[in-house]
Amino acid sequence: MENRIRVAPKFQFPESFEPIIAGLRDANETLNETLLSGRDSGKTWNIAQYAIGLTFEENYNNILFIRATKSQIANSIFSQCINIIKELKLEPFFKIKYKVQEIVNVITNSTIYFDGIDEDPYAIKGFTPRMNKIALVVFEEYTELSSRMPIDITIETLIRFRGSDQNKGTIKFVKMGNPSRWNNHWSWEDLEIDKINPKTKVFHPIWTDIKSYLNPHTVEYIENVRDTNPRYYRFAYLGERMSYEGLVYPQFDNSCMVDRKWLDERVPVAIICGLDPASKRDKTAFTISCLLNSGEFVVMDMWCYNPKEFGNEPLSPSQQTERFMDYFSKFFNKPQNFKFRGLPRYIVCDPANGGMDLEIKINYSRDVAVVNVDKKERLKDIERNTNAMATGRLKILKNVDALKPLIDELSTMIWREQTIGKELKQLKSTQLTIGEDDCHDSMTYALRFALNDARFVQYNSKLFVGR
Ligand SMILES: Nc1ncnc2c1ncn2[C@@H]1O[C@H](COP(=O)(O)OP(=O)(O)OP(=O)(O)O)[C@@H](O)[C@H]1O
Ligand SMILES: [Mg+2]
Repeated sequence: MENRIRVAPKFQFPESFEPIIAGLRDANETLNETLLSGRDSGKTWNIAQYAIGLTFEENYNNILFIRATKSQIANSIFSQCINIIKELKLEPFFKIKYKVQEIVNVITNSTIYFDGIDEDPYAIKGFTPRMNKIALVVFEEYTELSSRMPIDITIETLIRFRGSDQNKGTIKFVKMGNPSRWNNHWSWEDLEIDKINPKTKVFHPIWTDIKSYLNPHTVEYIENVRDTNPRYYRFAYLGERMSYEGLVYPQFDNSCMVDRKWLDERVPVAIICGLDPASKRDKTAFTISCLLNSGEFVVMDMWCYNPKEFGNEPLSPSQQTERFMDYFSKFFNKPQNFKFRGLPRYIVCDPANGGMDLEIKINYSRDVAVVNVDKKERLKDIERNTNAMATGRLKILKNVDALKPLIDELSTMIWREQTIGKELKQLKSTQLTIGEDDCHDSMTYALRFALNDARFVQYNSKLFVGR
């Protein structure tokens, strides 16, 4: 044992990492630390250095580094660990197994493992460290994971390998990463939970804390970013919670949301629904909104069918019609929606062929007027939505679970890379990144009708005062 202590190197940590390392060192029960920060703040280097130190402390003091996918490991955390070992001149103490990606401390047999957990989160259940011991688990770039779920499964599985009395039954979990570009990303919620959990510590190191450790070219580069692109600097290097530029609806925020009480105090004049039926394998989305006599448009609820969640089986147009008409009538049977029953109803359809099929069926099935939007005018639609958000005419009801997919789309839809920063008007010839946009489109058709063809609605309702 003494021998080991003699060879164990003394490590230097920057001041900003002292509390982080001390917390891990002194932990006497399961501890989670979260380091969410900006780039080049020393996360990887210092946690890896701490991990390397741990391998000297006991036999089989095993460590696991995790990323989203195993294929990302070879050129990132695995090679970074090797670089650190080389730079600290510790090569004689380690055997590096390139093929299986393991680093073994030859004095203690402590092993550093590497794995990816996002593609198959349950696969980690098959992981067994040598001598069933694990001292430290590090989630590297954890914000790149698709959700919190793989982290939970990993923690639940690995807690079994809590050490013996030698390390006081302690296991340490560290999550570290940089902010996601979306301010509604799951990792921000996760961070809020960590902040109030007494067993969790949160840190936010930034590059200025380790400036003296950084290569002068890196410092020069970061300072240039700070001076020429302050918004990107805040997002990337200060790690601020913000929607990074490129977002189609940067103005979509809390001010677009209203609660039920707000709606109940106002006078609705028409129900306007948007329908974006599935073509091939995308979603069918049907939003229900009301137009108020003030001219405000409020999205109240939606029905969304995603074939991906049902074994990729798209519903036939008649099945779809049946399902959403059923949903539609149930909506009006809810006591809080009684007041919307007598209003004129419009269903505004996608111009695509799928919409036609549904249109015919709806037309004969209910007392609703079905309106076809003429064609997809994406940029005009987006301009209209953006204006409606900015002027407060577009509202979305808060705390309605069904509306979550719509809110997700509005807060994550991005312009294609090459169009970032350009004016909407200049974008006519370029295309948008269109990912999940079915809920967005169904709302858009209804809003287009409500704002463009308001006179039509006005004609049907004496209550409408317009704007
Ligand atoms: N304790 C240290 N000793 C020596 N160099 C260090 C130390 N800490 C940080 N550095 C230097 O700072 C650089 C940036 O640190 P690191 O890669 O750990 O940052 P990071 O926060 O993980 O960055 P990213 O956000 O890109 O993942 C390292 O490549 C290394 O050169
Ligand atoms: Mg890093």
